[in-house]
Amino acid sequence: MEPLIFCFLILYSSLFIATFSGATKTQRGFTIDLIHRDSPLSPFYNPSLTPTQLIKSAASRSISRSNRVSLLVDENKLPNTIVTPDEFFGEYLMRYYIGTPPVERFAIADTGSDLIWVQCSPCKKCNPQKPPLFDPKKSSTFRTVPCDSQPCTLLHKNQRICGTSGQCVYGYSYGDKSFTIGQLGVDLINFSSNKNATFHHLTFGCGFLNKETAATDTRMSQNTGLVGLGAGPLSLTSQLGDEIGRKFSYCLVPFGSNFTSKLKFGSESMENVKGVVSTPLIIKSNTPTYYYLNLEGISVGMKMVKPSKNSATNDYGNIIIDSGTAYTNFEESFYNEFVTLVKEVLGVKVAKENPTNTICFKYYAKNNAFPKFVFHFTGAMVSMNRDNLFYYDHDENLLCLLMKTTKFGVPILGHQAQVGFRVEYDLQGGKVSFAPTDCTKN
Ligand SMILES: *[C@@H]1O[C@H](CO)[C@@H](O)[C@H](O)[C@H]1NC(C)=O
Ligand SMILES: *[C@@H]1O[C@H](CO)[C@@H](O)[C@H](O)[C@H]1NC(C)=O
Ligand SMILES: *[C@@H]1O[C@H](CO)[C@@H](O)[C@H](O)[C@H]1NC(C)=O
Repeated sequence: MEPLIFCFLILYSSLFIATFSGATKTQRGFTIDLIHRDSPLSPFYNPSLTPTQLIKSAASRSISRSNRVSLLVDENKLPNTIVTPDEFFGEYLMRYYIGTPPVERFAIADTGSDLIWVQCSPCKKCNPQKPPLFDPKKSSTFRTVPCDSQPCTLLHKNQRICGTSGQCVYGYSYGDKSFTIGQLGVDLINFSSNKNATFHHLTFGCGFLNKETAATDTRMSQNTGLVGLGAGPLSLTSQLGDEIGRKFSYCLVPFGSNFTSKLKFGSESMENVKGVVSTPLIIKSNTPTYYYLNLEGISVGMKMVKPSKNSATNDYGNIIIDSGTAYTNFEESFYNEFVTLVKEVLGVKVAKENPTNTICFKYYAKNNAFPKFVFHFTGAMVSMNRDNLFYYDHDENLLCLLMKTTKFGVPILGHQAQVGFRVEYDLQGGKVSFAPTDCTKN
């Protein structure tokens, strides 16, 4: 954590005490909507932007996301001169209700972070938001978390401090200049009218000093916080834990679709789903938030490229699977080899135009079949559709890669590559499963 944030933590740590009680453990399942930020259903929807413009801004968000993740994975990786652009970093939004009486909140759903937090009043510094701030004093079920209690000690010791009345004060930074500081609390959180989706004692951050570097985007003003779905102990996923059988999944609809994507907790078993494949889920102790997979190679037609042995991707668990990054990110040499293979197998040349800021090829979609692109994860061959990996501009006959390389970045499997699959994270079984699915129907 930045020393500055730590100072803020000490400054703003004078509030009240309460008790925490654990939830009873029962198995339950429920499904909620995930709304892509650029979908017509999103409060951030801007109808004046063309698909190409949207894809282009997704590319630049992916870069800042990848830099952010790299910083958290390895603080020494990024030179100080690299500045992450001021970009709103969430891709999907979810709705929930908090407190008694329930207050509706709209937040970023993020598999790349852990804490659930909401902007609270009284606020020292908050990102501009349209709905009134959440006021814990108006919720009859809100309790603060004492600093010696379990939820507080689940925070890394650099992320917490004991307030003057023994309450848990947290500070959580996101690898760039974004952060949230506040009081750890417990309240009733409800994700839909489904009884299975009501939780009486969820721990969350009541943020009274928040800075999202992209909050200057006025369309952001519906956003009131973040729901961390990472693997760390305070994420929503971990808190629901045994109650959801330590499983969740999502099914993402194609770009521009009018349907919502779905986020399912306590998914039914995927074992008998047609075409399902599974690969080990790897969680590393130095970065407990991230979900890693092991990618052995990518084949295009009959040929294959493999991540190079003497690179950073040599480790077992060489790619993060993430829903908060649009583009797939690869380390430079592997990316270049992949581009060479695409040119060879598709018989295409790199185009001069690059409206999306990524590599585009001149490509005339005739009746000839598109070659098969397969991601070979350990134990799971995932066959990708054209639209998982490319954006095709029919008018310009341009086929643009939905992949980027970031010099300092950690490889990330982005959400475009996951569209059209049910992707299940089974933390108990230690695996991630992919099943080709029409997500508009499921
Ligand atoms: C609640 O969860 C159980 C267990 O997963 C499931 O059988 C039931 O259908 C769920 N109820 C609703 C209303 O979704
Ligand atoms: C759950 O959310 C619904 C809105 O979908 C709300 O009407 C209801 O009161 C909430 N239930 C609880 C127990 O807070
Ligand atoms: C989405 O809905 C709008 C209005 O209902 C319609 O004009 C548009 O064609 C739909 N788009 C898709 C991709 O179905």
